Formats: sequence, structure tokens, C-alpha cells
Amino acid sequence: MKAAAKAHTNIALIKYWGKRDDALILPMNNSLSLTLDGFYTTTAVEFQNSLSADRFYLNGRLTEGTAYSRVTAFLDRIRDVAGQPDRFAEIHSTNHVPTAAGFASSASGFAALAAAATKAIGLAPNEQELSMLTRQGSGSACRSIYGGFVEWEKGTEADGSDSYAVPVAPADHWNIKVAAVILSSDEKKVLSREGMKRTVDTSVYYPAWVASIPDDLAAIKDGIMAKDFEKVGAIAEANCLRMHATTLAARPPFSYWQSTTISIMQAVQDLRAGGVPAFFTIDAGPNVKVLYTPEYEETVRNTLRHISGVHDVTVTGPGSGVSYI
Ligand code: DP6
Repeated sequence: MKAAAKAHTNIALIKYWGKRDDALILPMNNSLSLTLDGFYTTTAVEFQNSLSADRFYLNGRLTEGTAYSRVTAFLDRIRDVAGQPDRFAEIHSTNHVPTAAGFASSASGFAALAAAATKAIGLAPNEQELSMLTRQGSGSACRSIYGGFVEWEKGTEADGSDSYAVPVAPADHWNIKVAAVILSSDEKKVLSREGMKRTVDTSVYYPAWVASIPDDLAAIKDGIMAKDFEKVGAIAEANCLRMHATTLAARPPFSYWQSTTISIMQAVQDLRAGGVPAFFTIDAGPNVKVLYTPEYEETVRNTLRHISGVHDVTVTGPGSGVSYI
């Protein structure tokens, strides 16, 4: 009753922002992401008869609190599906994601956990079933089941049975670059879960956000298929700005940006003004991801590295889906 899996994190080009069902994690809108090669989590799960509760080690340390309760709640779901409510597990997870600097690892974390735990308990879900299950740990994680460009279909069923990710184009379809720009200080005050809820409940801009998604999605998928970088980048950047605009209209209002976040955004726009096609996107935190094509590697990297308040720049590209190890 032992298995291990590896999953990569992903960056949303069309953001998932808002739930229609908090318990089942059903989104208000479809989203689309690129799975990233450089950032991943490996997780080993072993169900043991001697255990009376789960034990979850993250990067070698036994966890408690929210990290622990989210993992056990998710394993409860897997135990439920497997019809083995009393089997508890020891879980060892290692993040190869700069979490300390506020980088989300929940996507790779829950995808690796779902794959390892289902296998360890004797289930054999196909990728669609695995994505559906993973979604219930963390929404964005359901997209990390697949490599490359991935869409999460929001579905329409109340039980979530048609809300899962589908592959759009594999990792080797298109070699675009993503620079993860990490800020020196991270004061993430509003978690994504809390922030999206507040936005759905109170932001007058929220309905406009939802209404804007179908056009963005159709256009970005055309752009991905045609490998039209300027089109894909421009849509992703505009979609990100629209998502962040909804937070400014929430009550109370909030923003994930810090002053360095804005400096990076302006530097990317300056690069473009100087003829370098680069675009940014930002999740529920202050760090920025910059998209560009390989020929601009040096220019983009040098520009980003020299911005005051930038701690680190890590470059990566399209990554593969979940795998067993
Ligand atoms: C801004 O997947 O972390 O990164 O479903 O509540 O666990 P939960 O939220 P999570 O939210 C991610 C939001 C986002 C956009 C995205 O990844 O699509």
C-alpha cells in the first residue's frame, strides 16, 4: 500500500478566479494553464495498519495546522472513494518550488498527492478521474495532471462530475519560456481561497470578469495552436490584469501587488516598447511570471534581475504531466 508520484506546478494564462461551490471546488469559469518543468513536488504515500491518524511530512518536517488538515481532508475523500475509511497514511512530500518566497506549491502538491495516494490505496483512476479528484484538494491542481497547455472545464453538474482538466497541447508543442521573478519580501496577506471568495461575494467587477472568459479562452487556444506568441502573451497579460482588477473592487478592497510587482510589470511593458515580445502574469501573490520566446533569454533575464526588490529569477519552460516514481 505504497506509491510515489511527481507533479509539476502550473501557471494560469486564463485564471481560475471564483468558486460556485466551495466544498466541491467547482469554479465559476474555465481556466487555462501551462505546466512548468522547473517547479515540482514529489510525494510518497504509505497506508499502514498501525496508524490511527495520517502523518504528513513536508520537506522532512512533520506538519500540523492548515497544511496538515487540508491533506487529511483530501485523503478522507480518497478513503471514501476507496471504501476504506479507517486506513491512515504516512506521507512524505518534497517541494522543489520556492515556497519560502511565496510561490504556490499547492498545485503540484495536491496533484502528486492524489496520484500517489490513489495508487497506494489500490484505486486505478484514469487521468480524467484523477483530475476530478485532485480538483477537490486544490482547484488549480487539477490542471497539473497533464503536461503542456491544459484547460480546466468548469462543468455544469452540481456534483462536479464534469469539472476536470483536459489537455490542449503537449509540452513539446511549443518551447516558450517562463521567468519566475521572486520578490525579496513576501507579505501575502490574503490567501487565494479567501481572496477569491471575497471577490465573488462583494466585487461589483466580478460579473464582468466571468463574462470576459469565453472570448479570452477561444482566442488564446487559437493562439496556442498557431504558436502566435504575441497573441497568447497579450491575452494572458490582459486576463491577469482583469483578475487583479476584481480585487480592487472587492469590499474590503485588496491587492496582491507590492511596489516591486508594479516595477516588474512596467519593465516588461518597457521591454515590449523596445521591441522585445515579453508579457507578464501574476497569481494570488506579489511574484511575477514573465513569458517570452527563447531568443530573448538574455535580454529578459538581465532586465528582470536588475530591478530593485527582485530576489531571484528562475527560468523554466513547459513541463510534463503527473508521473509515478
Ligand atoms: C490566482 O487553486 O490555490 O492562482 O481551489 O481554493 O485551492 P483553491 O485555490 P487555488 O487558486 C489559484 C488561483 C490563481 C489562478 C489559477 O491558478 O488559475
